[in-house]
Amino acid sequence: MTVDLTTRLVSADPTGIAAAVQCLARGGLVAFPTETVYGLGADATDGAAVARLYAAKGRPRFNPLIAHVADLAAAGKLGIFNSDADRLAQTFWPGPLTLVVPRPQSCPVCDLATAGLDTIALRVPDHPVARRILRDFGRPVVAPSANRSGHVSPTQAAHVMADLRGRIELIVDGGPTAVGVESTIVACIDEATLLRPGGLPRAAIEDALRHPLARAARPAESADEAPLAPGMLASHYAPRARLRLRVKDAGPGEAVLAFGPDVPPAMRRAKVLLNLSPAGDLVEAAANLFSHLRALDRAGVASIAVMPVPPEGLGEAINDRLQRAAAPR
Ligand code: TXA
Ligand code: MG
Repeated sequence: MTVDLTTRLVSADPTGIAAAVQCLARGGLVAFPTETVYGLGADATDGAAVARLYAAKGRPRFNPLIAHVADLAAAGKLGIFNSDADRLAQTFWPGPLTLVVPRPQSCPVCDLATAGLDTIALRVPDHPVARRILRDFGRPVVAPSANRSGHVSPTQAAHVMADLRGRIELIVDGGPTAVGVESTIVACIDEATLLRPGGLPRAAIEDALRHPLARAARPAESADEAPLAPGMLASHYAPRARLRLRVKDAGPGEAVLAFGPDVPPAMRRAKVLLNLSPAGDLVEAAANLFSHLRALDRAGVASIAVMPVPPEGLGEAINDRLQRAAAPR
């Protein structure tokens, strides 16, 4: 991960917004204001851009990210809305509410952004700068809060600069944010469930639904922690196949998830082999992680042999996810 980029600060005028849109289109990282906190945006359909985003934040884990769009019509192309989701979206969007809904096959958001899950978090922010960027860009933008992992969420451009200078391309200065805490997250999978309290009060949501929200077993304590959600809302992607980690051999009938240029001959002979990054690039490996696991799983093998992935940089998050995927169930 390069940490010596020049971070440009631009104002939220048409020139600044055009620069933000161009930067996103080139796979760059752009911090911009929303009504809650400043978000760090990347093109949600670009796996490499999303991998760079995790690296810039220094997140030790690939938590699933929120896809931001300009309006409900755009959100409807990314998720499947039941009647609760539809009612909440109609009532509160644009606004500080994120909806977690099932993700259709046709969803163009990359697997890394949703951390391999079959659900997706969607939000239409209520901020003129955010909406202008989203409308002009025309694709979904993932945007976690624009702070280094473990730091508090930024509510001013100067906070973003202090945390991420040299790690991102652009900051759009739209002044201080109004709400100051992150969006409320509600899952609408079966029973509407509060996953994270936030800028929209629970009572307002329950009024609109005309019934109480279920509460997640353990709601997220901080925005950077994935909520450990109950039942269908498994918070981690889990392949059907068993995973053997940090190995350099493969049994008959076993699939191989390789990393780097030096794939041992015993593994190269496997019928099903995918390489996270033949060049040994951790950003590329992160971008491929969930889609490769899914593809190997689809091949119907009982077991996947996974080569060692070095622990530095994004390797830490990659290893974290591999370990979770390998955990006995
Ligand atoms: O106000 C906000 O929501 C800000 C602004 C920038 O929009 N964004 C934000 O993003 O707080 P972030 O990445 O810090 O928090 C996203 C939360 C995480 O706790 C993540 O686990 C959860 O959303 N999340 C995302 N996708 C999910 C999914 N499919 N299922 C359950 N939780 C999900
Ligand atoms: Mg955060």
